[in-house]
Amino acid sequence: MRVLSGIQPSGSLHLGNYFGMMQKMIAYQEQQELYCFIANYHAMTSVSDGKTLASGTLEAAANFLALGLDPEKSMFWVQSDVPEVQELTWILSNFTPMGLLERCHSYKDKIARGAAANHGLFAYPVLMSADILLFQSEKVPVGRDQKQHVEVTRDIAIKFNNEYGDIFTLPEAEIDDQVATVPGLDGQKMSKSYKNTIDLFLDEKPLRKQIMRIVTDPTPVEEPKNPDACNVFQIFRLFLDKEQESSLRRRYLVGGLGYGEVKQELFETVRDFFAPYTERRRVLLAEKEELRRILSWGAEKARQVAARTLTKVRKKTGLSY
Ligand code: ADP
Ligand code: TRP
Repeated sequence: MRVLSGIQPSGSLHLGNYFGMMQKMIAYQEQQELYCFIANYHAMTSVSDGKTLASGTLEAAANFLALGLDPEKSMFWVQSDVPEVQELTWILSNFTPMGLLERCHSYKDKIARGAAANHGLFAYPVLMSADILLFQSEKVPVGRDQKQHVEVTRDIAIKFNNEYGDIFTLPEAEIDDQVATVPGLDGQKMSKSYKNTIDLFLDEKPLRKQIMRIVTDPTPVEEPKNPDACNVFQIFRLFLDKEQESSLRRRYLVGGLGYGEVKQELFETVRDFFAPYTERRRVLLAEKEELRRILSWGAEKARQVAARTLTKVRKKTGLSY
């Protein structure tokens, strides 16, 4: 099964991103044909500073590689290093009814929140369709907000295939309801926009500070506590196996466990869990030339796959003559 997903380079990562998306994507490389790319063309719809986009792109790449993405086992590249996707975007535009784009929630939401209504934002789903169709992807793991874009992709592919024969594989979105929402410091969904995150790759001091800010109730130390109503426990369990989880649960239920103590344990657990990744990330970012070499090798491999699709498309559409 060919699985493809793109991730916008958007600065720092938190536990929600890791347990909600990245860990799962990285696991795909063991069993599936994984295609994973940094969607920097898409990021241009919200980032207009060149330096920020460039450094964000390298950081996003370093994050993925540090967390275990293996460029030998998967296709891993930066979107703009495979310019074939732009040619396909133009071609697909001619199979994209205006109404299809006008109905997209994501576009309407962004405009409602004050984004400028430019063509890039409007055509964003066509570029995303090109990402998906260029590589003949079968499965596309995305967050709920992106589901409609995969449906748009299918509509465009069907229209094209009706005209020219079965050129494109019809993709399916994979929305994982199994992955529980990771709660933030205040118990709401962990999200950058709620400022309630525990970030990845922090130094000890700021990491400890974030964890100490987890909201808890005023139950005194000696009293029994309800682990299911405790934000610390809900975050802690992401790092525990079944046995460790029930042992911590028992400590809550018998009383005598202070929130300060359990936060300190959580801090040490998070720190130790990510320490090797943080170190790898530091090394990768200190050797940018090596990082660029990995990315350009990935793009070279991706371009070969892209070229196969595009050759067929150019022939069918008459662009090759
Ligand atoms: P944020 O809400 O912080 O802006 P993004 O929207 O950039 O996060 O998240 C990128 C992906 O990370 C999402 O599509 C989703 O799969 C995953 N994700 C983010 N936050 C969480 C969370 N709290 N729990 C589970 N998954 C999450
Ligand atoms: N639009 C996606 C997001 O913001 C990122 C993305 C771009 C993508 N191209 C893609 C995801 C292709 C899946 C497939 O999350």
